[in-house]
Amino acid sequence: MAAQIVTSGSQTAAAVPGEALEFEDIQGLVFFGHGHLKYSRYVFLRVKDEARARAWLRTLVERKEVATASGKQHPGNGEAKGEHALQVAFTASGLEHMGVSPEVMTTFLQEFREGMRDRRRARILGDTGGSAPEKWQFGGTDETVPHVALVLFGRDDADLDVFHASHRERYQDALEEVFIQDADMRQGDTEPFGFRDGISFPYIKGVPTTRTPDALGLPINAGEFILGYHNAYGQYPFSPRVPRGEDPRDLLPEVPRGQTVSGEPRPKDLGRNGTYLVIRKLRQDVKGFWKFVEESSRDPDRSAEENETNKELLAAKLMGRWKSGAPLVLCPMKDDPMLGGDATSNNHFEFGDDPYGTKCPLSSHVRRANPRDTLVEDPEESIKLGSRHLIIRRGRPYRDTPSGGEEEQGLMFVALNTNLGRQFEFIQQTWMNNPKFNDLYDSKDPIAGDNYDPQYPEDDPKDYTAVVPGFPVRQRISGLPRFVHMRGGDYFFMPGIKALRYLGSERTR
Ligand code: HEM
Repeated sequence: MAAQIVTSGSQTAAAVPGEALEFEDIQGLVFFGHGHLKYSRYVFLRVKDEARARAWLRTLVERKEVATASGKQHPGNGEAKGEHALQVAFTASGLEHMGVSPEVMTTFLQEFREGMRDRRRARILGDTGGSAPEKWQFGGTDETVPHVALVLFGRDDADLDVFHASHRERYQDALEEVFIQDADMRQGDTEPFGFRDGISFPYIKGVPTTRTPDALGLPINAGEFILGYHNAYGQYPFSPRVPRGEDPRDLLPEVPRGQTVSGEPRPKDLGRNGTYLVIRKLRQDVKGFWKFVEESSRDPDRSAEENETNKELLAAKLMGRWKSGAPLVLCPMKDDPMLGGDATSNNHFEFGDDPYGTKCPLSSHVRRANPRDTLVEDPEESIKLGSRHLIIRRGRPYRDTPSGGEEEQGLMFVALNTNLGRQFEFIQQTWMNNPKFNDLYDSKDPIAGDNYDPQYPEDDPKDYTAVVPGFPVRQRISGLPRFVHMRGGDYFFMPGIKALRYLGSERTR
């Protein structure tokens, strides 16, 4: 496919043609993770005073403080150059507290309106037992549901403190802090189990990138990740809308043609250039993971060195990539750190020549999270079908060290998509938590699946297995416990800049 060439800083970036995206109206996080700002803080807030909260938001927008995908920042390559960055998003409850009318609320996705703590959603996501909403640190009950997520990025801890304090001073009369979580990338791209993360991303049409197209796969319509553009079905995704009368200052664009009954005045598009954000604080049992891997791979008849090699191999088999990021299908027996760190080739693979998972197990995290060409028999159809279940991930590791308490590590998992049910929830429910995925029958995702939690045996006492065909001989490893536990989160709407201006505007209900 012909590429459109765009100059981005000193590098030349190419984009597969697509709809013209309004970069200046889209929050930067959609296109880059602010990778040069290694420290981040998630500040979860509740509205104390609606009028003041709107005034606060107005000022943020007027001063152009919300990072967008344009200006000093270049889309597509994680090349944001600012000293700090800030993104802002709202839960359904938050939008209500900002004065969004009940009629407008009905135009948001049902999953978003119900919230992550909803019983049905919790079941879909495997948030049960120790991961059940009532056990969360935030977001699990009406009292702890945040209204606003303010995500702050800075160069180091001290810098972040100053940045946060300057914002706190401005919002403290309007908003109350309910939970604060720091997450940082001081270990580079490595997540707490020790694997390189942040490798595989959807290739979005119209977004310049310096990565080679070979490493990116099928180009995807932007509407899978940004409201207001065509999605993978060639349709506009459901986008929240406002009756014309509720936008007297004409701050919002009209919904696209063809979205309303012809002849009727077109309502205003509150969703355009916005997206839905999934935030989940996921605790990782790092000790438990490595103990399990060690015990399951140890053979008393082998040397210590051989056992160490097999431990690393088994861990890679559960993940689907080596710690370095090198994909198992490309180097099944030995890590290849050069390949792992090579952004032009570390995502250039398919699973078609490994139908039984002897190189990369069918049950591994990476193969479940994106089955690529092996979802159905026809590889092309498979990739096309799979492209309807993609997410953009922007997670960062966290480490909590409470005084006197036990250290906790995990991932502030952040994902973006325009259809929570078909994208994020589908991946978690149908691919990760489903014991029958990929012709398996009792095997869930060994990394992010809701496996058996020994502390909550009554919840689901099933003994799930990890099936590892080529390790070095086929093995079924039973008693796979849950290594990732939910600690709090919610679904957020991350509006475009015009929509933020509208939400902050003085309006009568
Ligand atoms: C603490 C929990 C998790 C850990 C430690 C983890 C770790 C990883 C690692 C190391 C990779 C490979 C690097 C990469 O391709 O970027 C990866 C890929 C991925 N993960 Fe996770 N993950 C976790 C949870 C989740 C969850 C909850 C989801 C979605 C529901 C998810 C979806 C994905 C996807 C879509 C990919 C890319 C697959 C591909 O395109 O090849 N992960 N994860």
